[in-house]
Amino acid sequence: MKSQDVRKQFLDFFASNGHLIVPSAPIVLKDDPTLMFNNSGMAQFKEYFLGNATPKSNRIADTQKCLRVSGKHNDLEDVGFDTYHHTMFEMLGNWSFGDYFKKEAINWAWQLLTEVYKIPKENLYVSVFEGNPDENVPFDQEAWDIWKELIDEDRIILGNKKDNFWEMGDQGPCGPCSEIHVDIRSAEEKALVSGKSLVNNDHPQVVEIWNNVFMEFNRKADGSLEKLPAQHVDTGMGFERLCMALQGKTSNYDTDVFTPLIEKVEQITGLKYTSNEVLNISEEQNKTNIAIRVVVDHVRAVAFAIADGQLPSNTGAGYVIRRILRRAIRYGFTFLNTKEPFINQLVAVLANQMGEFFPEIKSQQQLVTNVIREEEASFLRTLDQGLQLLENVVAETKGATVSGTKAFELYDTFGFPIDLTALILREKGFELDEAGFNAAMQEQKTRSRAASEVSTEDWSVLIPGNVETFVGYDQSESDVKITRIRKVDSKKDGILYQIVLDNTPFYPEGGGQVGDKGTLVSANETIEIIDTKKENNLILHFTKQLPENVNVGFVAKVNQDLRSLSSRNHSATHLMHQALRSILGTHVEQKGSLVNPNYLRFDFSHFAKMTETELQQVEDFVNARIQEQLPLIERRNIPFAQAVQEGAMALFGEKYGDHVRAIKFGESMELCGGIHVKNTAEIWHFKIVSEGAVAAGIRRIEAITSDAVKAHFASYENTLNEVKTALKNPQDILKAVHSMQEENAKLTKQIEALVKDKVKNLKASLIAEIQEINGVQFLAKQVDLNPEGAKDLAYELGNLGNNLFLVLATADEEKPMLTCYVSKELVAEKNLNAGQVVRELGKFIQGGGGGQPFFATAGGKNVAGIQQALEKAVEFVK
Ligand code: ALA
Repeated sequence: MKSQDVRKQFLDFFASNGHLIVPSAPIVLKDDPTLMFNNSGMAQFKEYFLGNATPKSNRIADTQKCLRVSGKHNDLEDVGFDTYHHTMFEMLGNWSFGDYFKKEAINWAWQLLTEVYKIPKENLYVSVFEGNPDENVPFDQEAWDIWKELIDEDRIILGNKKDNFWEMGDQGPCGPCSEIHVDIRSAEEKALVSGKSLVNNDHPQVVEIWNNVFMEFNRKADGSLEKLPAQHVDTGMGFERLCMALQGKTSNYDTDVFTPLIEKVEQITGLKYTSNEVLNISEEQNKTNIAIRVVVDHVRAVAFAIADGQLPSNTGAGYVIRRILRRAIRYGFTFLNTKEPFINQLVAVLANQMGEFFPEIKSQQQLVTNVIREEEASFLRTLDQGLQLLENVVAETKGATVSGTKAFELYDTFGFPIDLTALILREKGFELDEAGFNAAMQEQKTRSRAASEVSTEDWSVLIPGNVETFVGYDQSESDVKITRIRKVDSKKDGILYQIVLDNTPFYPEGGGQVGDKGTLVSANETIEIIDTKKENNLILHFTKQLPENVNVGFVAKVNQDLRSLSSRNHSATHLMHQALRSILGTHVEQKGSLVNPNYLRFDFSHFAKMTETELQQVEDFVNARIQEQLPLIERRNIPFAQAVQEGAMALFGEKYGDHVRAIKFGESMELCGGIHVKNTAEIWHFKIVSEGAVAAGIRRIEAITSDAVKAHFASYENTLNEVKTALKNPQDILKAVHSMQEENAKLTKQIEALVKDKVKNLKASLIAEIQEINGVQFLAKQVDLNPEGAKDLAYELGNLGNNLFLVLATADEEKPMLTCYVSKELVAEKNLNAGQVVRELGKFIQGGGGGQPFFATAGGKNVAGIQQALEKAVEFVK
C-alpha cells in the first residue's frame, strides 16, 4: 500500500464515522508561548480541551505535520541512529471534544488497524495505564475492559506514568492513554523472544504506532491536576511507522516516504544506502547509512518549516531550524564527503512526493530551495574557517589533550559542531577534554536559562466559564469586567500581570500588528495596559500593577493615537503588498510583517535587489491609492473558500478558521484580522526608507506613513538648511557643492604631482641608505608620505634591482602604516614573504594587514610602535 493511500484510508475511515477532516495546522506555532512547534496533532486543538473556544465539530480527524526537536518532546539527537524516530513526522489523529470516549475510540482504532489495514492481530499489543496513587489517578479499568473484548488479555500490558499518561508540555490538558504497539519481526525471532517483553523497550521492530489519549485533566503550573470540564479523546498515529508496518518493511526509511529522497542522495554523492534487510554491513557503510538518514529526515523538517514561514535565524524557532539543517550539513560534510551545497536539491523530490497533499511545499519550492542552498553555503564556509581555527588550537596545544574551553569557543562562536571537533582531534592523535567542554557548556546553559527564566502562576478565575469577546473592530472603548488574572515573573520584564476581560476593545498582537496599549478605568483608579497579546484563544492585557479592587466594572480604553498610527501603517502594508505583486510579479509573497505606530516592515519573496525605479513605482502606486481615497470594505465572517474565490490573499503558515475576515481597499483584498483605516486618505503619504536582503530570496522593505513622513521630510529639510549655512548661504546649493567638488579634484591632482616630486627626491636620498645584508639589499625607514606615495616609492626603488627587501613606515594623519616590498626573486630564493612580514611587524603598531608575497601593507593604531617595527625588520634578512 502506497503511503498516499495509507493516509487517505485513515481520513476516509474517520470521515465515514462522522469526523470532520481538517487540514494540518502550520508546523510553527504563533499564539502559544509554551510551545515553539506543533509537536502533536492535538496542539492546534488545545483551546477546545481547555474550554477557551468551541470546536466547529465535536469529531475531527486530520494528519498533522509535527516537529519534536525542542521542549518536552525532543528526538533530535536520536534521529539517524535508529530507524523509527524523526524530527518531522506526520501524526494521523482523531478527536472527540466532549463527544465519544474510550469505547468508540478503542473500537475504531482496532477496526481500522485489523480490518481496513489488515494488520494481523497477533502482531499487536496494547497498553493501559496502571494508575498513580500519588496523583490520585486510578488504574484504567474501563480501557482494560474494552480491550479485553478485542484482544487476548495476555496481549494487554500495564504501563506507568511515563509511558501511559500523556502530557503535551509542562502545563495543559493531559490524561491516561492506551498505546498500540506492532511487532514486525520475523517468525523465527518471534518464536525466540516474546513480543510482549519488547514493548516499550526501544526495540526497532516492536514499536508504538498509535496512542489513544483520554483527556480528563489539566496540569496546572503548580504541578497539580484538575479535572477538565468534559472528557475528550486525542489520538495520534505515527504515519511513517504505520507505512513501515503496512509495506512489510522493518525501517521507516525503507518505505516510499523516504526512498525517493534516499535515491537522490545516492545519485548526488555516488554512495549507496543499504536497506535494513541487509545484514552485517561494514562500519563505514553504517556511518554512510546514518548520515543519509540524517539528511533525508532533516530536509523534511527544514523544508516544511520554511514553507510555513519560519526562516532559519539566530533566535527562537529560527535557530532550532538552523541547527537541524546544520546537523544535516555536518553529517554530509563528514560522512558523505559533500563539500558543496546539496541538500537543497532534495526539495524538488520532496515537493514532487508530498506536494499533492501539502501544496505549500510545491508552491514554495523555489524559495525553500534557495534558502536552504544559502544556509548550506554559509555553514560550509564556517566549517572551513572552523577547521582552520582548529588547526591553530592544535598547534598551540602542549601535550595530547586539547582544551575543552577552546573547543567550546569554536562551538559557541562559530557553530562548529563538537562531535566534529572530537573526530578531527582523534584523527590527529589528540584527545578532547570533554569534561572541560561540558562544564563550559553547562555554564552557558545556566546563564541563558537564568536570563530567560519565566515563572507563570496559575490563573485566578474571578468569573468562570466566560468566553472573551473582541469588540475592537467597532469600538475603542468598552464596559468590561475582569474574568481572570495571572502573575508572570520573568528575568526579562520583571513582574507583570496578565488580565483577561469578559469583552475587550484591545487588539492583541497579531498579523504583524503590535498589540494595543491603553487604560482600564474604574470609579477610583486607572490602570495602564502596556501591551496586549493572544495566547491560544485568550486575549491577555499586560499591566505592571493590578487594580486595588478587581471585582468592579471598568471602562477599557484603547490609546487611540497609537492605534491610529499603527492602522495607517497596516493599511499601507496591504497596498504595498498589492503594489509589489503588480510591479515585480505574483511570485511575491509575504514572509514576515511588523506594523507599529512608527513604521512598517515587510519581508517578501523576491530574487533580486529592487532597482530605484521599482522602488519609485511601488511608492507611486501606493500613493496613488491613497489619493484615490479608497474606502475600507470590511467583510466579517465570510466562508474561507468564498473569500479566496473572490481573490483574497491568504498566507502560508497562517492558521485560518472556516470563517474569515477580509479587508478590501479597491483591488487589494487580504484575509486579515488587523485594525485598518476607514479610508486610505488617512494614510496621508507613503515613503519607503530602506530595501535590503534578509535571507536568500527574501527582501525586506521598511517604510513610513503619515506623521512619520512629515517628520522624515522635516529632518531632511533641517539637514539641507544646515548644509546651506555651512556653505555660507549660497543662492544655489547644488552649484556651490559642484564647484567645491571641482576645486577638490584640482587640489588632489596638485597634491599627487607634489607627492610624485617628493618621491623622486626621496628615492635619490634613500638609495644611498640601502645596506647589503646577507646578499640582500635592505632598507627599513619611516618616510613622510601618504600611503599612495609610499607605494609609489616602493615600486620605484624595486625597479632598480632584483634583490631588494624594503619596509617603509608612514604616519600620515597620525595613522601608522607599514609597506613592505620584496623583489620577486627574493620571494623564491630566500623564502621572504611580504604578507608575513607585515603581519609580524604589524603587531608593533597594533594592527594587521596582508597582501601578496612581494607587496603587502598593514595599517595600525599605535604610531609609537613604528620605531620598534622598523628595528625588527632587519631580523628577516639576518
Ligand atoms: N497527543 C498524543 C500523542 O502525541 C496522541 O501521543
